[in-house]
Parts: sequence; C-alpha cells; structure tokens
Amino acid sequence: MKFNTIPYSPEHVARNHRIEARVNTAVRTFDAVMGRLGLGGRKGYYNDDAYEFEGGARDELRKKHYDKSLRLLWKAEEHAAWSTFDDATRDEQLLLSMAEKGLTRGEKAQRKRINSAEYKAFLNKTYTPKQKQAIVNILSMIGHGEAYAWMVSCELLNEVKSTGGRAALTMQVLEEAKHFVVLRELIQAFDMPIPRLNAWEYVLLERTYKSKGLEKFFGMNVVVEGFALSIFGMMSTLPGLEILKLFHRDESRHTGLPHNYFAEFPMTAWERRNPLRAARRLSLVLPAIPVFYHIEADLAELGIDTFEFGGALARKVLKLADRVGFDVLVPTEPLAKLVNRAFNEYCKATRPDFTERNFMEAETTHGKEELAVEKEIFHLDDAPAPKSRKRASAAA
Ligand SMILES: [Fe+2]
Ligand SMILES: [Fe+2]
Repeated sequence: MKFNTIPYSPEHVARNHRIEARVNTAVRTFDAVMGRLGLGGRKGYYNDDAYEFEGGARDELRKKHYDKSLRLLWKAEEHAAWSTFDDATRDEQLLLSMAEKGLTRGEKAQRKRINSAEYKAFLNKTYTPKQKQAIVNILSMIGHGEAYAWMVSCELLNEVKSTGGRAALTMQVLEEAKHFVVLRELIQAFDMPIPRLNAWEYVLLERTYKSKGLEKFFGMNVVVEGFALSIFGMMSTLPGLEILKLFHRDESRHTGLPHNYFAEFPMTAWERRNPLRAARRLSLVLPAIPVFYHIEADLAELGIDTFEFGGALARKVLKLADRVGFDVLVPTEPLAKLVNRAFNEYCKATRPDFTERNFMEAETTHGKEELAVEKEIFHLDDAPAPKSRKRASAAA
C-alpha cells in the first residue's frame, strides 16, 4: 500500500509525547489518590493498560452468557408474526419464507403466520373473557417485573467486574428490553384491562431495585427471575402463548448468572453470612408470600392451584439461593416448612374437605424442555452452595 506521507517535525512530536506522558502521570495519580481517599477518582471501572475491564477477561462468563444469548437470540417478527415487530434481518426473512415454501399444505396451515386481527380472534375463540382476564392479570405481573428487570440489570451492568461479566449483563439488559416490549404487546392483544402492580410485588421490586451492589443479584436474578421462570414454565403450553417458551429459556440463563458470576468472583464468607444482609434478604422474600393469596382466583380460573404454584416456586427459589450461597438468616428447610404450614392453614380455613399436603413437592411447570431447563438451573437433585472458589458447571 502506498500512502503520500505528510512531513512533520520528529522533535516536536517527541516533545508533544513527553508532555502527554507528564499530564498522564498527573491526572492518573490525582485520580488514584482521590479514589483511595474516597473522594471520587476514576469513574470508568476499566483497565486501559490491560485492555480489559477491571477483573480481567473471564471468557468463561462471556461464553456461558453473551455467546449463548446470541446463539439463542430470537426475533419477535418470527415468533409473534401477529405483532408489530419488524426485527428480523433480511436473511432471516428470506429463510423464513423459504422454510414456508418447503412445507406441505398441512404443515403450512399449522405454521400459518397470523396477523394481529387473526391472533385476537384466535384468543377470543380459545378463551372466555374471564379466562382472558385471568391470563392478563397473571402475565402483567411479569410484564411489570420485566420493566424492573430492565432497570436493575442496567445498574448491575456497572457493578460487575471483568469483560466477561459485563458482556453477560449487557445481554441481560438487551433481553429484558425485548421481554418488556414484546410481552407488553402480547398482553395488550388480549384486549382486557391491565392491572397495576399489586402491593406485594411493588414492595419486592422496589426493594430489589434499591438493593446495594451485587445484592441486586439476590432480589432480581434469584427471586424475581425465579418467579418469572416459574410463570413462563406454567403458561407456555397454553394455546397462543407458545412464545413464552422463549422467555423461559432466556430467564433460565438469567437465573444461572449469579452462580456463574460468583464462581469467578466469590462472595466472602462475611458477604454471604452477614446477619444484616441475610435479614434483608429474608425481609425481601417474606412480603412476597402474600402474592400467592392475591392471585388465587386468577390461577383457579386457569385450573391451577395457587399454593401448588407457590410451593413449587418456593422450593426452587430457596434451592437456588442455597446453591448461589445467599444466606437468608434461617436455614431454607425450616423456612420452606413454615411457608407450607401457612398455605395449609389457609386452605383448611377456606376449602371444604381439604386434606393436609406438602405443597413444596408440587410441580406446575409443564413442557418437557422447560422441565429439563429448570432441572439444570435449580439443580433440584443436588446438595447446596459453592463454599469456595470452584468452577461452576455451566448453568443453562
Ligand atoms: Fe425478563
Ligand atoms: Fe430476566
């Protein structure tokens, strides 16, 4: 390659570089001192010497979350053809139309890309207004939750160390944005009034958002995402809601993130067991229990026992908290028993002919794939907690 080089004075260039080096030393030293004094200092948590974020590369985190998210990235235009989304690339659109051409008549009828009016007509034909309202009431809880997941993951993005950690959180931000806008359109398609956040969920989400630093992982990726995963797993087999299977797959990666992150950057024993933090975690979970009483009628309308859902969810979330290493002040086993007791007492008082049962053994997730994903994420057959710096098995 031939360039017409421009003449310059090497002495002046060398002098300019010397000046830059002195200014660099001055500003970096100033920032380092201010940082040590707790008066500010460098804000960008980035190591330009190493060309990495503070914490290093951590490619394992990147592979398990960033690469995997991109591999499994789905577009609403393909999976919710009735929606207003126009997010498929030209190649994806071409592939889609080619795939449709190759189908037999029967397959075509089955895979027909329906528009918005047809989708609404399908919902009206499939569900009674009461059932539609129940679905909207349940799904909108997650819809509002997605807004918080989007906000919380944005903040967590600036809390995590390493290039791999940031890449992982960046994909979560992108996926929560997609979840919020796509789920919103799905819920709106039911044409039913959309309720506000109920008070129990409001408290859980607000307190999660206000949690300090990596504690957000507990409220968000363990409790709220565990809740979302269980709802998607419970509803993805309902007609017209098949797209929730894709949400379920994304949320499974999000619930697996704290375990994978802490395998790279373990919490100290004090961070895990600090009684104040543990008490705060417990106080985050307990006010969420009344949610199951609040949604009893809506789930009943869809043939689901709210306490079976609550029991299955509590079992999974407590298992996940144990596995990640988050202490919740009291051992999780007696806590699960206490929740089960509360459910049983309520049922005894409100349901004729109710016989005592263990709701913690219930399973409300349907769908083979969803069950397999949850088994891997929650390690339901395993013993708890990474106590030391050990490499985690790939979650999700
Ligand atoms: Fe989400
Ligand atoms: Fe999520």
